Amino acid sequence: AWILIPVLAGAYLLGSVPFAVVVSRIMGLQDPRSFGSGNPGATNVLRSGSKAAAVLTLVLDAAKGWLPVALVGWYGAAYGLYEGAQAAVGFAAFLGHVFSVFLRFKGGKGVATALGVLLGIQPWLGLAVLVVWLLAVGVWRMSSLASLVAAVAAPVIYLLGGGSVWVYDRPVLLFTGLMSVVLIYRHAPNISRLLAGTEPRLGASGRAAP
Ligand code: G3P
Repeated sequence: AWILIPVLAGAYLLGSVPFAVVVSRIMGLQDPRSFGSGNPGATNVLRSGSKAAAVLTLVLDAAKGWLPVALVGWYGAAYGLYEGAQAAVGFAAFLGHVFSVFLRFKGGKGVATALGVLLGIQPWLGLAVLVVWLLAVGVWRMSSLASLVAAVAAPVIYLLGGGSVWVYDRPVLLFTGLMSVVLIYRHAPNISRLLAGTEPRLGASGRAAP
């Protein structure tokens, strides 16, 4: 339906709002692009030393993925927009975060926003992926590694949870799978550091190169 085009554009614009940068500025902290991994995300904001700023970034970056998906879920049916449209709109918000129009297309890695999108599509899916992320953090104490594990787990959990590769479920699998692929691709510097054994543990005021 034609209405999907402005909805996708709106989701992309909302996703583009870099809450790591916004929250840091409002709270008088250094721009997260200037230290640690250089990534505008909750993990790197935590390296500023402010847990409150990191949590706020995490919640807001997740909310901007969740909200457009939830809105389509609540009001979409009247316009012929269903689960597939929700997944596409969520992917648009995710792409906004990763390729932010407000940061000259240099955005974040998409972990929090992807979580919000999954919570919006199916709460059980988002919660299960969050549990995987938390367990992985518990084991390795590295946000990036936990994010990579969760990204691989997400489409698998969706299929195990009764999602089908057929009919109407297919766009959900397609877009959650694409999110995982882009998310993993954005962790290329982390993967190099993980292999080199130099990835900082969560909470350490990491001095990893941007
Ligand atoms: O939130 C992104 C996380 O997976 C890695 O962040 O700053 O350690 O590269 P960072």
